[in-house]
Amino acid sequence: MELDKNPISAWLQEDDTDRLETLWHAADRVRRENVGDAVHLRGLIEFSNHCQRNCFYCGLRSANKKIRRYRMDLDEIVHCACQAKDLGYGTVVLQSGEDPGCSDHWVASLVRTIKEQTGLAVTLSLGERGRDAFLLWRDAGADRYLMRFETSNAGLYARLHPGAPGLEERFRQLLWLRELGYEVGSGVLVGLPGSTHMDLANDILMFAELDLDMIGIGPWIKHESTPLGRGELQDNTDHKRVAASETMTYKMMALARLACPRSNIPSTTALATINAENGCEHGLRRGANVLMPNMTPAVHRADYEIYPAKACFLESSEQRFRIENIGRYVGTGRGDSPNRDARI
Ligand code: 5AD
Ligand code: SF4
Repeated sequence: MELDKNPISAWLQEDDTDRLETLWHAADRVRRENVGDAVHLRGLIEFSNHCQRNCFYCGLRSANKKIRRYRMDLDEIVHCACQAKDLGYGTVVLQSGEDPGCSDHWVASLVRTIKEQTGLAVTLSLGERGRDAFLLWRDAGADRYLMRFETSNAGLYARLHPGAPGLEERFRQLLWLRELGYEVGSGVLVGLPGSTHMDLANDILMFAELDLDMIGIGPWIKHESTPLGRGELQDNTDHKRVAASETMTYKMMALARLACPRSNIPSTTALATINAENGCEHGLRRGANVLMPNMTPAVHRADYEIYPAKACFLESSEQRFRIENIGRYVGTGRGDSPNRDARI
């Protein structure tokens, strides 16, 4: 499928179900040919919900005084990582808000301890922390880094992230991660107020340009304790509003698979939140090959409220059954991205 801008935005505006079937099939075939039928499980540990940022869409934003903030200590996090190993996962994902309370050196010792005790692949998702921190953590053994750019529209990005460095800085940080040898992941939100089909088409082109190893795509979910949830963003463009819908999310996932055939693409929690019944399976059949079961201790889980009613893939035989039920199997080993292997 030719991937210049017009066909992408045409697909994004397609609503004929038969034609969409061809997109789902193409994405599923390209997924199978490039990353196979394994579904890799990543144990997600949301270890701190402190955040110094004020992203317009996110419940963890610092101006939101309604949530209870927590920060797990090193032993507690390492304990979760050991559980992930016992469950047979190949990777732990350590995620937090942009939390200056977690010093660069503390994070380095966390990574080092987890590597020593489990040998698992370690993915970090801690926001923009700068080149020195990225280098320190890479030396400590970190393998991968996730940092979504959220939208490729620089003007919209600036409006959604007041007081933060702009989109250029985010791309610069992603480039540093690449130079330091991380597997690099990024992604976007689908249906952000003020975004257009052309923006989403550009997002796809940007995935390819960045040559991403991992791509996370989820629908924007309205959170009442955020400016976007309260409708405070002035959307004065006259474009057709992009739906923050399930179908639009599948379209983006399928197009991301076609644009970046060898990348690892999760079927995201946000998708499972808007369709608890089978969003996860649909995602896996329309381009995705990764799931991220939530390992955050139950006492903290509800406080990591990026958006309301967040679903959780928890470890269970039912989850594994769901994977096998659609003709796939649970991956073993680290599940590195063949995209990075091909590059180096
Ligand atoms: N709806 C869906 N996803 C969200 N995120 C933040 N807020 C929301 C929301 N309201 C996503 C962002 C961020 C990731 C940690 O969570 O894409 O990168
Ligand atoms: Fe903080 Fe990330 Fe939420 Fe922005 S999206 S407020 S950086 S946790």
